[in-house]
Amino acid sequence: MVSASGHEAVRQCDALTGQLYSDHADYLFRPYLGSAHLRAIERVSEWMSDAGMTTRVDAAGNLVGRYGEGAKALIVGSHIDSVRDAGNYDGPLGVMLGIQLCAALNATGRKLPFAIEVYAFGDEEGSRFPAPMLCSRAVAGTLNVAAFDVVDAQGMTLADALTTAGLDVGHFLDAKRDPAGILGYLEAHIEQGPVLEAEDLPLGIVTAIAAQIRYQARVTGVAGHAGTNAMSLRKDALTGAAEMMLAIERIAGAGPSDLVGTVGRLSAAPGAPNVVPGEVVFTIDLRAGTLETLQPAEAAVVSELHAIAARRGLTLQLDCTHQLPPSPCAPAFRAMLSRAVESLGLKARDIVSGAGHDAMIFSPIVPSAMLFIRCKDGISHNPLESVDPDDADLALKAMLAFIDHLEAAYA
Ligand code: GLV
Ligand code: MN
Ligand code: MN
Repeated sequence: MVSASGHEAVRQCDALTGQLYSDHADYLFRPYLGSAHLRAIERVSEWMSDAGMTTRVDAAGNLVGRYGEGAKALIVGSHIDSVRDAGNYDGPLGVMLGIQLCAALNATGRKLPFAIEVYAFGDEEGSRFPAPMLCSRAVAGTLNVAAFDVVDAQGMTLADALTTAGLDVGHFLDAKRDPAGILGYLEAHIEQGPVLEAEDLPLGIVTAIAAQIRYQARVTGVAGHAGTNAMSLRKDALTGAAEMMLAIERIAGAGPSDLVGTVGRLSAAPGAPNVVPGEVVFTIDLRAGTLETLQPAEAAVVSELHAIAARRGLTLQLDCTHQLPPSPCAPAFRAMLSRAVESLGLKARDIVSGAGHDAMIFSPIVPSAMLFIRCKDGISHNPLESVDPDDADLALKAMLAFIDHLEAAYA
């Protein structure tokens, strides 16, 4: 059997790629409940069993591996779904490090006064249904049934997607765990930014995760003949959307550096070279470290977009699809993680996460902490994502030292 290591975690992430584990022939794309996701569950489940864990798939399609016994469990989680044209490590590395953590404990037969449960969440990215972190929200018990009312780009409902995977939307909320049985939540994740690399540090301690809000905008004009409609008489939904996107860029760019705004997806109909576009649908993603920064920016975007639509004679419908407040990590857990990193002779660099994580869902409910791992050139959500396996080894050592502190503090 291969001995537990960060190198092995990186190898496992690399093995979870290619045709079997992607639903797109040309790049890595593993949306929630797609066939690649279901095959990934099988493979990761084997790795969990090899690490001495019992496994199950819960009612929301999360793979759960449990190591050890105890009335309470530390959840070590991250996600195995991916964005479109993804890298290998955003999500899977945290899951594989959780498995390696259990493998390391298992190798010495170490018994803890609490169990460790590694959760491979099924949907964090929201890249299939417009509802990110659906699966961790089910586990935390913070999901509203209205969240089930989503369809994917092919028009398939969440209920039907669950059925194809042998699951039942009527039982989705059964994935909920009683917080009284959760000791806390730990997530390891690549930084997805350039700070650690710039400071020549392999690991960082997340202090808080930025607030985020997403909208779907639907701009409706009038489709018409590209040759006969004089420019001054058009109601072009696409040029209107273009002006809206530039307004979002301007508003976000005028704020503090933690305020960011992105239009990541756009579709224009009917989509022909000789037809003035009649309808455009696009997404808006706004984030900031505090609500004091995010909320005025959101209000400015909403009002500016409506003003542009009115001036151009277009109709604008804005639907909020996702909203999360800023999520501070728990001071006691952060301190234990910092001591764990320092015990390796490393600086425990505090860092704010601009990216969203499943940890955001757990931090209001149980003590939560996040360990960041340096990634090459800060690149993520991109196939060029790269992690030094030696950094992953350090992350595993820090997680083991964190477990020592948690055990010592366990009453
Ligand atoms: C997840 O990767 C997000 O921050 O959107
Ligand atoms: Mn991501
Ligand atoms: Mn992620």
